[in-house]
Amino acid sequence: MIRRPIVVLDGPAGAGKSTVARMLARELELPFLDTGALYRAVAYWLQRQKVPPEETPDLESRVLSLGVRLEGERVLVGQEDVTAAIRTEAVDRIVSLYAALPSVRRGLLELQRSQAEQGLVAEGRDMASVVFPRADVKVYLTASPQVRARRRHEERLAAGQTSDYEAILRQVEERDRIDSSRECAPLRVDEGALVVDTSDLSLPEVVDRLRRAVEGRVAPH
Ligand code: DC
Repeated sequence: MIRRPIVVLDGPAGAGKSTVARMLARELELPFLDTGALYRAVAYWLQRQKVPPEETPDLESRVLSLGVRLEGERVLVGQEDVTAAIRTEAVDRIVSLYAALPSVRRGLLELQRSQAEQGLVAEGRDMASVVFPRADVKVYLTASPQVRARRRHEERLAAGQTSDYEAILRQVEERDRIDSSRECAPLRVDEGALVVDTSDLSLPEVVDRLRRAVEGRVAPH
């Protein structure tokens, strides 16, 4: 590969984006960016500060002043490592309310773009449409709500947390609804995106398919 490509994956919660994007990044020797973690960190912190999920004139500067940072795969707000704290059901329940706010999205835009200097594999909801519209490869990864809820449920059990499949399924459907119907940067399939349904594919099959797509797109001629 001659230059370091920008590869983006969008799609709904639980489609396997994080796992797939992380593995793809490792195979392609590119940095990996999980943008959901940034929205989680902001939602977690604003809620802790009792800032409600409402648009206000000072919200963007407030988001910028939080000092959200990435150190490898660790997420920090100021000096505090929030990597574990943002992966709870409590944060799952509130994050899309904050992610729907234009000021929150604007406040995270530059941080996301600044990660791409060495190329990257980035995953989120608006990677292709807003953050990296000129990405070399755009992928839309999806799976049925039932398959996605089952994966989240198993992840939680494996992490030793309590989990309720039916409750997760309802949350997955509710988050899909909020993420796709919000006015600012809704989740949608970008023109030119390769759509991959992972419901019946194994992880290695998905990663392999994407790696071939990237190599086909940015291989030296
Ligand atoms: O992928 P995830 O479950 O960690 O995402 C958390 C939330 O953040 C989810 O409600 C969608 C939102 N999000 C977003 O709006 N835009 C992104 N680029 C990434 C995540």
